[in-house]
Amino acid sequence: MFRIGKEEIDAVARVIESKNLFKINDAMHETEQCEELMREKFGVKRALLVTSGMGALASALIGMGIGPGDEVIVPAYTYIATAMAVVAAGAVPVIVDIDETYTMSAEKAAEKINPRTKCIIPVHIQGFPCAMDEIKKLADENGIMILEDACQADGGSYKGKRLGAIGNAGALSFNQFKIITAGEGGALITNDDKIYERALIYHDSSAIAFFGDQLKDVTEPQFCGTEFRTNEISAAILHQQLLKLDDILFDLRKNKRALTELIGNVCRISPSNDIEGDCGTTLPVVFKDEQSARQFSASIGVGNYLPIDTGKHIYDHWTAILEKRGAFRPEMDPFRFPENADHLPDYKNERYPVTLDLLARTVFILVDPDWTDNNIDEISQGIIKAAKGLSHLAKNEKNK
Ligand SMILES: Cc1ncc(COP(=O)(O)O)c(C=O)c1O
Repeated sequence: MFRIGKEEIDAVARVIESKNLFKINDAMHETEQCEELMREKFGVKRALLVTSGMGALASALIGMGIGPGDEVIVPAYTYIATAMAVVAAGAVPVIVDIDETYTMSAEKAAEKINPRTKCIIPVHIQGFPCAMDEIKKLADENGIMILEDACQADGGSYKGKRLGAIGNAGALSFNQFKIITAGEGGALITNDDKIYERALIYHDSSAIAFFGDQLKDVTEPQFCGTEFRTNEISAAILHQQLLKLDDILFDLRKNKRALTELIGNVCRISPSNDIEGDCGTTLPVVFKDEQSARQFSASIGVGNYLPIDTGKHIYDHWTAILEKRGAFRPEMDPFRFPENADHLPDYKNERYPVTLDLLARTVFILVDPDWTDNNIDEISQGIIKAAKGLSHLAKNEKNK
């Protein structure tokens, strides 16, 4: 969360005073207005507010018609929700390694494609844009859909297009830790009417037919789904957050650029697939080994961490997936469905060496949009001092 305050407080007060907190109402229409702003901002035909990023991912997969017998490719470095959404749709997640940009390697994804592969989920982790040209080429050549997980990259872009709006569908998250937030929340964006209609039914199947005229233009038949319906308070907060999004991104990028210029001669910064579209939340510094990364991390005097320490963001911590427990009741478990059972990956024994190696020798420096020039100077001095104190920085090794 970066910037939240009076505008959001006033918006919430207006909703409460209207006494209409439910999404369908005759008063404020906050959800409708927020979805309209989202469509405009992301340049998409359809936007659906839901209660979480995972809700958006699962609704999108259902909308795409993914289910038992299908394989969906996910990167080894992403929050566990990406893989769990695939299981929620009844399909099998197939894990692939990342590359030096921390995002899915299109080359490694290509090796896992087979006739069962129906979808690829590139994840714009930490706001780093995936190599969408390569992923799109791969998907087009093989007739596979793309669901962009932009949950950590609200508003970022790749070659001028917003992340989430490039593939067949995109998922955004607005939980507390994201670029914009309503405490919890998510959105599905797409240009595909069918994906939207099925997701609409799935995300609110118990209420969709009974409140308002939500199914007026929908041609897909109703089916039983689940409940990820948003509410007017969340939508009102998000509307204000969306209005702030581009300023937040502008300042994050400006500060990341300034820090990069100051420390770039001393530290090795990881490459980006599109530094202009990168969200700017994170400056990744890479080292020769984990020991150097830890030493640097402990002494730079600014918010940072080693991504290897982020638990459920790394495949080897995805216990329920690794142990193939896809549901509480075995009969409901996609890992036991006959359509899936004969092609399950051996998750526990598969290795994704780039992921574990790169994440262990990387330090993510967390950028703040509200840093002043003085803050940036001070921070850079601390970083330069820490970097010079290391005897075996990757950059120094590389330059030998
Ligand atoms: C990459 C990624 N995908 C999906 C999610 C799920 O989002 P939510 O927590 O809103 O369900 C997250 C949340 O942290 C995430 O980081």
